[in-house]
Amino acid sequence: MNKFNSTQKIGDIVNAFPKAAEIFKGYKIDFCCGGNRPLIEAIDEQNVNEAELLNKLNSTYENYEVSSKDKNWFDADTDDIIEQILNKHHAYLWSELPVISKLSTTILRVHGQHHPELSKVHRLFNTLKMELEDHLTKEETIQYPAIKEYQKSGSLDDLKKAVEIINDLETEHTGAGNILKELSEITKDYSIPDDVCETFEKTYNKLKELEADIFQHIHLENNILFPRLRNLAGK
Ligand SMILES: [Fe+2]
Ligand SMILES: [Fe+2]
Repeated sequence: MNKFNSTQKIGDIVNAFPKAAEIFKGYKIDFCCGGNRPLIEAIDEQNVNEAELLNKLNSTYENYEVSSKDKNWFDADTDDIIEQILNKHHAYLWSELPVISKLSTTILRVHGQHHPELSKVHRLFNTLKMELEDHLTKEETIQYPAIKEYQKSGSLDDLKKAVEIINDLETEHTGAGNILKELSEITKDYSIPDDVCETFEKTYNKLKELEADIFQHIHLENNILFPRLRNLAGK
């Protein structure tokens, strides 16, 4: 029997089968910001062949051998999820955003004349960087300390503090997701033109890696951690 159908929520499918995230990415289906809706909605929106996608999901699931890399975050301890978000995804952004920013300026200066799209790439990336730095700071100074305090003391005030900021954070995730969508369109999914240098290639590869990392990061927050907090608070 098939495990997945199109009435299931996209985020639930990725929770049950993390590898589905890669398949969704291939079909430009948003599993992080848009994870809280039935798959059929995204299928209709993106004009995807429903039978083909379901077949791919179900056959990959049946033939997939789970390895130690495929941690099931849905069933993980809250402490482990927090550690993964802060030590892996936040740390990655703090270190990579300035690096990519410099690279995006370099390729704009060197290749901007022949690749006018780079001016938009530069602007969009730097907007994303600014918004994310603000967002990470909010999470690291307000939300995560409140969650950790709640974990330690069980204080409902701290839980409330962590939950009441969620709507704002989700809106910011959607904003970041929209910029990434635009970046992917302008760069034709980060394909490297023939007439460019290694720095150009490195920049686009880093942008692609950034996209994958942010999708996974937002998925952990939007589809696993935040619903868990809301449940605890009874909201
Ligand atoms: Fe985060
Ligand atoms: Fe976030």
